[in-house]
Amino acid sequence: MSGARPLGSLLVRDGTVADLPAVMTIENDSFTDPWSEQAYRDTLESDQAAMHVAVDATGTIIGHVVTYFAADEAELATIAVAASARRTGVGRGLLGHVLTTCRTRGCRQLFLEVRESNTVAQGMYVAAGFVAVGRRRAYYSTPTEDAVLMLREIAPTESPEAPTAGS
Ligand SMILES: CC(C)(COP(=O)(O)OP(=O)(O)OC[C@H]1O[C@@H](n2cnc3c(N)ncnc32)[C@H](O)[C@@H]1OP(=O)(O)O)[C@@H](O)C(=O)NCCC(=O)NCCS
Repeated sequence: MSGARPLGSLLVRDGTVADLPAVMTIENDSFTDPWSEQAYRDTLESDQAAMHVAVDATGTIIGHVVTYFAADEAELATIAVAASARRTGVGRGLLGHVLTTCRTRGCRQLFLEVRESNTVAQGMYVAAGFVAVGRRRAYYSTPTEDAVLMLREIAPTESPEAPTAGS
């Protein structure tokens, strides 16, 4: 797990069990097929996973992201931003923190799946350097939908991202 990192007025830090009520509110508001609280607890207990949260200037949690690590590969498993804080750079800040964490852990490839219809998230991923590399048929339920598989190559010498909320 990596430490706290200020990104402009946004702070991204490691998540804790105490953050779960706020995380679950964002999760349930953001997805038709949300993760359970137990899934987040399992993530927090795993050495092969990390949960990071974005915190605003008032200390309120406004986003979260979960990443899994396996050798030199990582998977961005979920990311969500509170509806009231979207389109202000929070998602970009969380992604930048994940990429820095991946680099620190020696990961060279970051994968993710995204609903085919989720063009907002795909736009964010493309802007962050992801490319579509495949498709998983009927990967999602509620409703059933294909996933687009995306990949971000991570060069060991790449400069750390310096995204800022509100920029
Ligand atoms: C996807 C999500 C995390 C984006 O978070 P965000 O904080 O609003 O995103 P940012 O403000 O950092 O935007 C980053 C980039 O994403 C794209 N983007 C974000 N919102 C967009 C929108 N409404 N329309 C078009 N592009 C958008 C843009 O490229 C944007 O860069 P720009 O502002 O310079 O144009 C957020 O919309 C969300 O939580 N959605 C519901 C959950 C979800 O779909 N998660 C992804 C699962 S794979």
